[in-house]
Amino acid sequence: MVKEEYITEELKERIEAFNLSMSGKRYAIEHLDKESMASEEYKKAYADLRNDYLSLYREYSQIPDIDLYHYYMGRNPRAFDVWSISGNDERYGSPEFRGKIASEIVFNCIYWFTNKFDRVVDPMAGGGVVHDVCKAMVRRVKSYDISPTRPDIRQWDIRDGYPSDVVNEDFIFLDPPYYKKIDYGEQGNEFSKDKITFLRNILNLAVNSYSVLKSGGYLAFIMSNYVDYEDNNRSIYMPEMINSFTKCGFDIYRMIYCQNQSSQYRGFHVKHTLDNRDKHRFLTLQKTLVIFKK
Ligand SMILES: C[S@@+](CC[C@H](N)C(=O)[O-])C[C@H]1O[C@@H](n2cnc3c(N)ncnc32)[C@H](O)[C@@H]1O
Repeated sequence: MVKEEYITEELKERIEAFNLSMSGKRYAIEHLDKESMASEEYKKAYADLRNDYLSLYREYSQIPDIDLYHYYMGRNPRAFDVWSISGNDERYGSPEFRGKIASEIVFNCIYWFTNKFDRVVDPMAGGGVVHDVCKAMVRRVKSYDISPTRPDIRQWDIRDGYPSDVVNEDFIFLDPPYYKKIDYGEQGNEFSKDKITFLRNILNLAVNSYSVLKSGGYLAFIMSNYVDYEDNNRSIYMPEMINSFTKCGFDIYRMIYCQNQSSQYRGFHVKHTLDNRDKHRFLTLQKTLVIFKK
């Protein structure tokens, strides 16, 4: 997947050296032996390591976004309004989390709609892809989930609004449950209990997000239609969800279609669709990424 021609040898060596030294310092900071050290000695060792870490980090953050993007994605950022997304990247988000978003979508959102050190919030972080991409691209990120999968994602139920330290944010990334498509456990599934509850939760999410986003900030909302082939009244289409955001003051800024690979389906899926012409059971490949602006 990675096309090496975008990564110069010099850039590769530079970023790898930074990552290695920074993770070495971080490890040392975390494992300073508090017990056996006299307190003054401990404080000095801690302060020295922290200063070393910060100066490395400052230097790392000078690397232009496009170089960071090239290094991590091995290609240019997406220039069209259809993003064909292939496969899952094990480097971002907990590998065992089911339903992770493709890291390339997140890298593109972060590249196009944020700047270095911007404040990014992901209130439904799942496996933490947004968190990891923000760290790689030097953005300040806060991540929450009702059932956190790792310590840097804090436990929070977004139906209660945002935590009090979430204010004046530059960018919000919303990747809520895709209604009933994936099982997120007892607590996670409450968001999508039924169509009315789901739409009410999306509306609340929009209202609360509006109040914590800075004026001029962007919000990315990624979702796909939920089609109930047996009873179309139970389907939920994108415009219904998009309306929740425009109703509470957001402007639609850009719309991008994200296309998954058809290889996720097998021949018998296609046959089933073809054999049931009257049912119009088209196999879903698209997600819509809506960028709203406050
Ligand atoms: C589509 S997944 C997010 C995937 C994530 N972007 C990733 O790449 O791993 C939706 C997430 O919403 C979480 N969730 C469901 N209800 C929630 C709630 N009320 N508050 C916070 N998170 C919730 C689920 O636990 C799940 O992790």
